Amino acid sequence: MSSFPWSRPWLWLPSELSHNLSPLVLPALSKVAPSFDPRWKSLDWQGLHFRNPMGIAGGVDKKGSSLKSWQALGAGFLEVGTVTPEAQGPNPGVIIRRDWPTRALWNKMGFPNPGIEPLVEQLKNFKSRKVPLFINIGKNRWTANEEAHLDYEKCIAGLHPFADAFVINLSSPNTKGLRELQEKSSLQNFLNYLFEKKQSLAKSTPFLLKLSPDMSRPSFTETIEVSAPFVDGWILTNTTQSREVGSPFPSEGGVSGKPLKSLSLQSLEWLSQSLGDQRKDKLVVSVGGVDSYSEIMHRLEMGADLVQFYAALVFQGPFLFKKVLKAALKGS
Ligand SMILES: Cc1cc2nc3c(=O)[nH]c(=O)nc-3n(C[C@H](O)[C@H](O)[C@H](O)COP(=O)(O)O)c2cc1C
Repeated sequence: MSSFPWSRPWLWLPSELSHNLSPLVLPALSKVAPSFDPRWKSLDWQGLHFRNPMGIAGGVDKKGSSLKSWQALGAGFLEVGTVTPEAQGPNPGVIIRRDWPTRALWNKMGFPNPGIEPLVEQLKNFKSRKVPLFINIGKNRWTANEEAHLDYEKCIAGLHPFADAFVINLSSPNTKGLRELQEKSSLQNFLNYLFEKKQSLAKSTPFLLKLSPDMSRPSFTETIEVSAPFVDGWILTNTTQSREVGSPFPSEGGVSGKPLKSLSLQSLEWLSQSLGDQRKDKLVVSVGGVDSYSEIMHRLEMGADLVQFYAALVFQGPFLFKKVLKAALKGS
């Protein structure tokens, strides 16, 4: 068990406070960072250029208030959201916690966000964009699953001028019943509806489906088979509802960071096996316990095109992109 990292002052603060302060601190940090070359293992896909394969995960910048800073800190692509059509607050009570010894994060946020309109205003101000932007979309917690497709449609209609790809989030454990939409019985109609709506827009924006790490192998394979005709790729994975023995976290909510690593790797392996040589130009994004240069290399070798960080940014800080790029130069 490693000792507490006194050199990382944000870890002295309660998790939620440090989360809320980050948009105030990141601009200054991104300006003091000495300049460096963010190009490494660049990738071109569907007309998008990724200068490196590292991005911020869904939820890191829910409102899009720090996108410029993340770009300056070296991200190869960005993700904003989850956004829902209408503004909504967080779930009640404590919504985020961290556990340093196990490098684990826990949250039961439930998509707190200002809704589509304020995000549009925020994105209009982000004119200096040099990297692809994914927009992660969800449903309001009061929208019934039977009507959920209409919430996602509203997000696509309102945000498509700004999105390089949409992340269809059906995998948060913190919106009651959301994960049921991943099941074959509803998924086909749900995706077909959004796919048809997409065809009627002037600009065709790729869809990426973000999945849960808690599916059985048969359900996972079925979800991939059903979704493949409608989506351009997958993001694996969201947080887990499972708990390791001795986990300090409650049973509600989702866990990420190190305890999620093995489940995220398992999903990546299952996906590579399911797709086989049918993969064509589908994009695969691996997230869940990605925390170092060597872990990124491992995910890329296993078939991921891109990776994302959440927990590692909390535990190691916002210079993580630079740290990995430095390690990549040395090859270790
Ligand atoms: C506090 C917190 C908030 C999150 N919010 C979202 C979200 O709004 N949308 C989403 O798709 N994923 C969300 N996630 C999940 C992350 O995007 C990611 O899938 C997960 O944390 C695994 O990555 P990690 O192990 O690097 O943390 C959130 C995770 C955390 C810890």
